[in-house]
Amino acid sequence: MELVFSKWVFAFSLFCCLIFSVAFSVEGLDEDSKVRGVNLGGWLVLEGWIKPSLFEGIPNADMLDGTQVSFKSVKLQKYVCAENGGGMGISVNRDSESSWETFTLWRVNESEFQFRTTQGQFLTCYGNGCTVSATAKSASSMETFQIERNDDGRVHIQTKSGAYLQATVDSQLTADYPGKPGWDDNAATFKMSIVANNLHGDYQLANGYGYSKAKEVLERHRSTFINSADFEFLHRNGINTVRIPVGWWIAYDPNPPAPFIGGTLASLDNAFSWAQAYKIKCIIDLHAAPGSQNGMEHSASRDGTIGWTTSESISQTLHVINFLASRYANHPALLGIELLNEPSAASVPLDILVPYYKQGYEIVRKHSPSAYVIVCQRIGNADPIELYKADIGSHNLVVDLHYYNLFDPYFVTLSPIDNIQFIYKSREPQVQALNAADGPLLFIGEWVNEWNVTNGTQSEYQDFGRAQLEVIHGRTFSTAQCGFYLHRYGSIGVEYCDDDIARHQR
Ligand SMILES: *[C@@H]1O[C@H](CO)[C@@H](O)[C@H](O)[C@H]1NC(C)=O
Ligand SMILES: *[C@@H]1O[C@H](CO)[C@@H](O)[C@H](O)[C@H]1NC(C)=O
Ligand SMILES: *[C@@H]1O[C@H](CO)[C@@H](O)[C@H](O)[C@H]1NC(C)=O
Repeated sequence: MELVFSKWVFAFSLFCCLIFSVAFSVEGLDEDSKVRGVNLGGWLVLEGWIKPSLFEGIPNADMLDGTQVSFKSVKLQKYVCAENGGGMGISVNRDSESSWETFTLWRVNESEFQFRTTQGQFLTCYGNGCTVSATAKSASSMETFQIERNDDGRVHIQTKSGAYLQATVDSQLTADYPGKPGWDDNAATFKMSIVANNLHGDYQLANGYGYSKAKEVLERHRSTFINSADFEFLHRNGINTVRIPVGWWIAYDPNPPAPFIGGTLASLDNAFSWAQAYKIKCIIDLHAAPGSQNGMEHSASRDGTIGWTTSESISQTLHVINFLASRYANHPALLGIELLNEPSAASVPLDILVPYYKQGYEIVRKHSPSAYVIVCQRIGNADPIELYKADIGSHNLVVDLHYYNLFDPYFVTLSPIDNIQFIYKSREPQVQALNAADGPLLFIGEWVNEWNVTNGTQSEYQDFGRAQLEVIHGRTFSTAQCGFYLHRYGSIGVEYCDDDIARHQR
């Protein structure tokens, strides 16, 4: 009963500025079988920018996992430096802070931390009297330090055995400061600077609050951020598909490995019931894979590193796909399963990704002869045609491409008109070429009617929306287009691109 629609249909984003469009025929959708979808971002996989208030109750909230800090000795007026970026000694002799002087936090609790160098080693100290080095490959108690802060950015750093670190006159960092330091310019006082604090995902929230408080915060968020009223709203506005990002820990519900908090499985079950009630289809999107496939908060990276490519992580990921496919394959609301969101081109080689995609495809097929299997382009420097050539699977295979005029300084340098022209000159030919290529169907799984221009007019902004709809939806389908987009931080907007005739806020 497969209907043949190779036309663009469009969809819109909710809560995370992500919008998708599908060029594939859809079995089981009513009417013309066009998919108009919305991403339910920031719900079962957190993205702090979508709902920053979730993080506000965390003590020492500027010192979460992945935060980068530097330390300057107030006595020597020099920065603490991991020589070579790690793997050897520590010196307190640098005049400025760069990568070797920057340490990434692993948070133990609100006052205890481990410090990771750019090369991945941890600061370590065997106990009282030690000289600190950056040589530990993993972190436990010898790599754990207590931080005491005062109000003007000064800190004392103590080992687990209680000794205070000090910067010595010969530029070492040693655990032998005599007694308890004050906040004057002594050798055990450092000025700590937060160099970067970009990661606000599930790892940071759960580890930041600790288990019971995190559970409380997440239970509230998961039961209120999306509910059946949203599905009713989407249905009423012509949306017939949702793409639901999930994290790998869903397969271990209700007690996933620490610090992740169970409960997303019940939410996903609810989503499927609401979807069924409102004639909406679901795409389950594995957004966060074990170890992180892109180092970003939305893949639940602990500290910005990408650890997904190990064989252990990959088999665990296949287990998750098997879990999801077996649980939902026969649910009438399932449309497809996306095997992995946005793997990094720089860190995930094609010869690792493609075999994973092939195995994932087979696993979904084992449970369902027809569910769409969606494979996402690599983000960064990669051409999506690579997935067309990869021979991943023969039936109902879909390649997902994400289009943003955001997150890339290139677009900031373009005028509003050039931003619009970019859609026609660069994206449209790509869409046409891929649509014409043999093999997988094409899917714009994320896009948004948002740009990063400072002085565009409202009509230019509407033209920008219209251009995207034309290219994504296809010029042959230029009727009654409407867009949903996120009004930053959690409200839903609905905007008719032609006249801005309708707007819905909540
Ligand atoms: C942090 O954890 C250590 C044990 O590892 C404990 O002794 C300390 O009291 C904890 N601190 C806070 C503020 O919870
Ligand atoms: C928008 O541009 C500014 C200035 O270049 C940049 O700092 C910011 O990160 C950009 N925002 C997005 C969402 O790309
Ligand atoms: C917007 O600002 C840029 C420079 O910041 C300028 O080149 C451009 O002409 C402006 N566009 C409009 C429509 O005012």
